[in-house]
Amino acid sequence: MALRGFQLFKGLSRCASRNPVIVQRLLPASSRLYCSANDHQYIKVEKTGSGNNIGLITLNRPKALNALCHGLMTEVNAAVDGFNDDAEVGCIIITGKGKAFAAGADIKEMKDQEFSNVVKTNFLGHWDGITKARKPVIAAVNGYALGGGCELAMMCDIIYASDRAKFGQPEILLGTIPGAGGTQRLTRAVGKSKAMELILTGNMITAAEAEKIGLVSKITSSDELMTATMETAEKIASQSKLVTAMCKEAINAAYEMSLTEGCHFEKRLFHATFATHDRKEGMTAFVEKRPPKFTDS
Ligand code: CAA
Repeated sequence: MALRGFQLFKGLSRCASRNPVIVQRLLPASSRLYCSANDHQYIKVEKTGSGNNIGLITLNRPKALNALCHGLMTEVNAAVDGFNDDAEVGCIIITGKGKAFAAGADIKEMKDQEFSNVVKTNFLGHWDGITKARKPVIAAVNGYALGGGCELAMMCDIIYASDRAKFGQPEILLGTIPGAGGTQRLTRAVGKSKAMELILTGNMITAAEAEKIGLVSKITSSDELMTATMETAEKIASQSKLVTAMCKEAINAAYEMSLTEGCHFEKRLFHATFATHDRKEGMTAFVEKRPPKFTDS
């Protein structure tokens, strides 16, 4: 039985490098991370935190400044899917190894692409996996976040940055434009004038400036970045995962709906929390002057 299990694991491992998403879905949640951690070529995937409750994805192509090639983004999607389905995980962190978070889409991979091919293959169409995460995702930006790297950070829910981080959308310098949401998410994050300035010049900004314009919510020294990010991730993961997902959905609705529609949607989700055990437990614990014990139900 054990041998059969091992053979199945080996078979799935081999297959995972060819089709990680399908394999992740075939495996039970408890096995996913062990299989994927061994098989990832471009990222590292770990469970960490006090209760194994944080999913940590490290972009791991430091020699190429974590340039976001097709395989890397496929692996990121599979890892996010795995953490989404893992009941232990309450928050996901994405960071980069080395001196970059990510220096953008892989220019070497893009260089010889033709118009007909990028349309036919819907090039970069699979980049939005992070935006579909039900669980909160924090970007811990340790260095360059340029082009697609900045766009990847902006797909996350919270951005923390080390004081060495640099942000920018330099696509214009390559004769192209942002293609993974930069013109949309940067404009929503920092307003039209700053977004226009950054995207039309391709200039980089420091972490301090990124914080000043509201792109980043916290800056730390590079030594302290992961500690500060983990602290916030732990705090988020310690709440009711069910109610956290509802809260995230309500905040994201602010990007898509009018104020009246958004407030109505929020009100209905607020009402829906009254159908959960965790809402009852949270308020009862407050009245009884004790910490709540959430059960994600
Ligand atoms: N794609 C592919 N390879 C990249 C890369 C990228 N986006 N960014 C860096 N690299 C590679 C370099 O080619 C180099 O590889 P080699 O050693 O094989 O030559 C290696 O990473 C180290 O890079 P540098 O020697 O350039 O490092 P540096 O410290 O001198 O400069 C940098 C750092 C300023 C970030 C510079 O690498 C740079 O400008 N990179 C490109 C940034 C960029 O233009 N990003 C936008 C990409 S387009 C995009 O993202 C489209 C979209 O919207 C999705």
